[in-house]
Amino acid sequence: MKPTNLSPIRVGLLGIGTVGSGTYNVLQRNQEEIRRRAGRGIEITMVADLDVARAKAAVGAGVQVVDDARKVVTSPDVDIVIELIGGYGIAKQLVLEAIEAGKHVVTANKALLAVHGTEIFAAAHRKGVMVAFEAAVAGGIPIIKALREGLTANSIQWIAGIINGTTNFILSEMRDKGLDFDVVLKEAQRLGYAEADPTFDIEGVDAGHKVTLMSAIAFGIPVQFDKAYVEGITGLAAQDIRYAEQLGYRIKLLGITKRAANGIELRVHPSLVPAKRLIANVEGAMNAVVVQGDAVGTTLYYGKGAGSEPTASAVIADLVDIARLHTADPEHRVPHLAFQPDAMSDLPVVPMSEVVTSYYLRLKVADEAGVLAKVTGILASAGISIDAVLQREADEVGGEGSTHTDLIILTHECQEAKMTGALAQMQALPTVLAPITRIRKEELA
Ligand code: HSE
Repeated sequence: MKPTNLSPIRVGLLGIGTVGSGTYNVLQRNQEEIRRRAGRGIEITMVADLDVARAKAAVGAGVQVVDDARKVVTSPDVDIVIELIGGYGIAKQLVLEAIEAGKHVVTANKALLAVHGTEIFAAAHRKGVMVAFEAAVAGGIPIIKALREGLTANSIQWIAGIINGTTNFILSEMRDKGLDFDVVLKEAQRLGYAEADPTFDIEGVDAGHKVTLMSAIAFGIPVQFDKAYVEGITGLAAQDIRYAEQLGYRIKLLGITKRAANGIELRVHPSLVPAKRLIANVEGAMNAVVVQGDAVGTTLYYGKGAGSEPTASAVIADLVDIARLHTADPEHRVPHLAFQPDAMSDLPVVPMSEVVTSYYLRLKVADEAGVLAKVTGILASAGISIDAVLQREADEVGGEGSTHTDLIILTHECQEAKMTGALAQMQALPTVLAPITRIRKEELA
């Protein structure tokens, strides 16, 4: 091996919770192999955490522990700052201060980058430092590396990902056990799969942050979470999962970004996916991302999207990249968003009303003559083509003697605005007895 005289690169850690302690432990355990790969040692020299006792218990005696994160971001003895605080508040200030102090930054903070990425990347570019964020999307899966480097020859066509483990766990349990959302959410919280406040996960916001980052890298557009369409899984009923299954589909919360004729689609919502697709079979808290490139075709990335050491795996990959490129001319490093900052695209994000996709509809209808004809008539006059219809016997749906039933319709592709208009007309029919359920459908072919 080529001998290296470089001293270890010095790392300051902000926040030593689950991911921070995983990062420290993996760096310790694999330090020799990591040094051989990076060409120099990587050492955590400083840790900031409000819980100093917990931090001291998590690291060795040689690590300086402080309760003031500013001491880390301004320390002359730190080359790289790892930000694991989360959120857009103090984390944003500390990241910008670290950049201003000439430090490289590694962060797992998707919310921060999806909302304030443009400002942060511009600041880093001005200072000639790197902001690396492999851990921000799909935890341990190296999807940022794949998109930014491995697939760089391709014109990316679309990306679809299960990028939130909490919601995938809930959907898997709903399907396996036939239970409704609220029941499974409580169970997931009891088992520690869902946070006490699960809002960002179950409302699709976390997945929205992650798909915003992937979209920027795939298409060379700025990060613009505010333009993403975000819908979570709180409205899903066990019966929809069951009906979807009878039609050969699974329901997954997908983050989707796609090159369309009128711009870039950027959306998160529950989607029916054909049960035969590999991604439809990703169960529990696992993550998976499918990327379609024009040259490579379809590629699939699967793994743990959260957890101490899986996320640490991504954080350390970024540390190694920075250790290797620390002394390189900033112009020769991989750009933050894969495209050169002066070569970004101004393609618009397509409003959801203009997105073209197909649909699953469930209508609770009176079990009487002419109902199906009226519903299909509305679809026909909106120019929406039906792919399949499933009607259960009234007794089966509402019990013996029931006068209502469920009508399930799968449509071919149409523009969202057309479907919204048709739904309003169907909803106004006196024979439609409850709010209509609309779930989008993606063939991912
Ligand atoms: N809360 C996220 C999830 C993990 O459930 O996948 C961190 O992004």
